[in-house]
Amino acid sequence: MGIQPSKRMGNFTTSIFSELAQLKREQQRLGVEVIDLSVGSPDLPPPKFIMEELAKQVMNSEQYGYSLTGIGEFYEAVSTYYSRRHGVNIAAENEVALLMGSQDGLVHLPLFFTDSGDIVLAPDPGYTAYEAGINVASATLFPMPLREENQFLPCLEEIPEDIARKAKMMILNFPGNPVPTLGNKEFFEKVVAFAKKHQILVVHDFAYSELVFDHNHATSFLEVEGAKEIGIEINSLSKSFNLAGARIGYIVGNKEIINLIQRFKSNLDYGVFIPVQKAAVSALIDDRGFLEQNAKIYEKRRDILVNGFKELGWEIAASPATMFLWARIPDGWQSKEFAFELLSRSGVVVTPGNAFGKNGEGYVRIALVQNEEKLKLAIDKIKQSNILASIKDSK
Ligand SMILES: Cc1ncc(COP(=O)(O)O)c(C=O)c1O
Repeated sequence: MGIQPSKRMGNFTTSIFSELAQLKREQQRLGVEVIDLSVGSPDLPPPKFIMEELAKQVMNSEQYGYSLTGIGEFYEAVSTYYSRRHGVNIAAENEVALLMGSQDGLVHLPLFFTDSGDIVLAPDPGYTAYEAGINVASATLFPMPLREENQFLPCLEEIPEDIARKAKMMILNFPGNPVPTLGNKEFFEKVVAFAKKHQILVVHDFAYSELVFDHNHATSFLEVEGAKEIGIEINSLSKSFNLAGARIGYIVGNKEIINLIQRFKSNLDYGVFIPVQKAAVSALIDDRGFLEQNAKIYEKRRDILVNGFKELGWEIAASPATMFLWARIPDGWQSKEFAFELLSRSGVVVTPGNAFGKNGEGYVRIALVQNEEKLKLAIDKIKQSNILASIKDSK
């Protein structure tokens, strides 16, 4: 082909997920039963009442026009949800923007707020969309390492003064993917002070706000005083209500920022299918106990894996939230080598930690996206493979 892609496309290489998928297919061809714990896509259905609302709305022939920036009812529902679940006041009329899932916001925000070469501070390891968005805008990612010795929180004091001065955005994600840390008010207060000092827009990705275990609660960035002056929070119904394929989410927070996002998005797309918005309204206004039930399912899955691995000699921290375990791998292995070896010896697919950034080396991410029976089988297959014997040997 004589047509050349842009130089920017050079930043979008084939991801580790494609390599894993290839190896997975090879194993399946060999007749191996593969248990995929790599991709964070919910395996459970949405609650019936949401599907019923969607079905009802789909049959209404008046709901097929462009929704443009979104329907008023949706903004109202987000506001109601925020005050009920997080005690945060969000003005439905000017502090909410509609998104086609969080991803839509995450990959486009750097385009709205940075110019070529501007710096964006992002967690390392961090969710892959952050880097993708930064690359789309030709901005520059400055990694904020998440290290175990710092409770997996970014160390703001480590950010060099000249970088802080040049930074336009900071992306945060608590509870996080791949590192399932919960945010806390004390840390967020430091972030607000830092961002105000350096005039940085804070973008908090809150995608896992509802998958929290052990009676804990996910802290919204907007709970902190002053956060709305410099920040926004992104969330969706993908993980909380198992609506990943329906593509609906939102940004809340600073009204000037929301206004800019609305302006840009009105040039980019024409909104989300109205029946999907209406279904989301029914979910946000009253979840009918679903959120608690759903989190419990993941909590049980977490316990099965953490306890199962413990019996095999592999101690993994019990995640306080999300649909992931962030597991330090046995000494002597590299993340990718371990994940590939695990797949070829046991048929269990996990993601190498360094797929999420340099600081993910030494870890793998294990997604809790299979039922309890499959998870027990995964433990069994790993036991049979003997791959963890090296941990016991090294102790
Ligand atoms: C941390 C995080 N943010 C955002 C997303 C995107 O989710 P969605 O676009 O479905 O809201 C994901 C999906 O895996 C995620 O893990």
